[in-house]
Amino acid sequence: MITAPRYRSLRGSLRVPSDKSLTHRALMLGSIANDRCVIRHPLLGEDCVSTASCLAALGVHVGGIATREPEISVLPAEWKAPEVDLDCGNSGTTMRLMSGLLASRPINSVLVGDASLSRRPMRRIVDPLRLMGANIDGDTAPLTIRGGRLDGIHYQSPVASAQVKSCLLLAGLRASGETSVSEPALSRDHSERMLAAMGAKVIRDGLTVTIAPQQNLDSFDFSVPADISSAAFAMVAVCLLPGSEITFQDLSVNPTRTGVLDVIQQVGGRFDRENLRDSLGEPVAEVTLKTPTALAPFMIEGDLVPRLIDEIPVLAVLATQCHGTSVIRDAAELRVKETDRIQTIGEGLRRMGAKLELLPDGLVIEGPTSLTGITIDSAGDHRVGMAFAVAALIASGETRIENEHAIHSSYPSFWSDLASVGLPA
Ligand code: S3P
Repeated sequence: MITAPRYRSLRGSLRVPSDKSLTHRALMLGSIANDRCVIRHPLLGEDCVSTASCLAALGVHVGGIATREPEISVLPAEWKAPEVDLDCGNSGTTMRLMSGLLASRPINSVLVGDASLSRRPMRRIVDPLRLMGANIDGDTAPLTIRGGRLDGIHYQSPVASAQVKSCLLLAGLRASGETSVSEPALSRDHSERMLAAMGAKVIRDGLTVTIAPQQNLDSFDFSVPADISSAAFAMVAVCLLPGSEITFQDLSVNPTRTGVLDVIQQVGGRFDRENLRDSLGEPVAEVTLKTPTALAPFMIEGDLVPRLIDEIPVLAVLATQCHGTSVIRDAAELRVKETDRIQTIGEGLRRMGAKLELLPDGLVIEGPTSLTGITIDSAGDHRVGMAFAVAALIASGETRIENEHAIHSSYPSFWSDLASVGLPA
C-alpha cells in the first residue's frame, strides 16, 4: 500500500540494482568461457536466478549465488544433459538466449516457463534456429531441443529484438560458417559488446551484425553497472515530484539503452553525465537529474522504441502529467512482454483518472490529469507494478498494489531504494 506523499521531493544518490540483461549474458557467456569468470555485484533478482539455475542443471558451477554474494564466479564446464526440465520462470531472456546455446550443443533438453512465459511467442527464435538446422519442438514453451550441428545463416529479423539477435549470435558461435542478423532498428547490443570483449569476431555494419564461429572465449572479471531500466522509475519520480534531484551512480549508459534520457530531454528535463568509463565494453557514468520546471509532452516512435522498450510503462505515467498530448507508437512489441503492457498500463492509468487512448501499437495520452489512488493489480508484471507505484506518488489518497511481489524479478530493492532518497517507508 502507498499513501501518496504529495509534493514530497526525492533527493540523494542512488545505486540501483545491476543491469538484468548484462547479468544474464555474463552468466551465460561465463559458462562457456575458457576459464573461471568473475561477476561483481550481479543482479540476483528472480529472472537472473532462473538463468543461473538452468546453468547449474547443465553442470556449470555458479559460486556464491545461493548465498547472494556481491561477487559470484562461473566455472565453465562441458555442458551435460540436464536431468530435469530447465525452468526459465518468468524470464524471456533466459528462454530465448539459452535456446541458442542449447540448440548448438549435442545434448537434449526441455525448457519450461511460468504461465506468462508459456504464452509468449517463441517462433521468433525457433523459426530461425530451425533454418540453421536445429531440431526443436514447440512454438511456445515448453520447447524440446535436441541439440546438434548448425549451419550459419543470414537472417532478416522482422522484429527489433535483442533476444532474437542474441539467440542467433550465441547459436552462431558453434555453427559452420558465419551467422548474421539484420534487424529493422538497433536493439540493445550487449551480447555483441560482451562477445567482442571475450575475443569473438563480431562485425557490425549498420543494422546487421555478423559473428564467426568461435569456441575459444576469453574469461572476464566484470563489474556489472546499474540498470537504466530500473533507474527509470526514480527518474520519472524526479520529474514528477518538484524539488527532486538524484544522482544515479555507476549507471549503464549504453546508447542502445538511453532512450529514457532522450524522452526526459523532450519533456524539458536536464541531466548531467560525469565520469564516463568502460566496463567490459559497456559505457558507465554518474547521471544527475533534477525536476524540470515544466513538463512538455513527448513522442516515442521508430528507432527510439527499442532504446526504451522496457521504460514505456513508467513513461506512460509521466505522460499523464505533461502539458499536452504525448504519443507512443510503433511499440506493438509491448503486447508480448510479461503482460500485454499496452493493455495493463493503459487500463490501469485510465482507472486512476488518466485520459488516454489505446492504439494497437501504443498509447495516446492527454495531460495533465490528476490521478486518484485505487487498488490495482501488477498482473504479475514487474515493470507494470513499479510504474503504478510511481503513479501512486502523485495520486490523491491511497494506492494498493496487488501482486507486488512481481517486482522482485528485476528490482528486489525497489521500495528500500525509494525510501533511501526520501519516500516515507
Ligand atoms: C532483453 C531485451 C528486450 C527487453 C527485455 C530484455 C534482453 O526484449 O524487453 O526485458 O536482455 O535481451 P526484446 O529484445 O525481445 O525486445
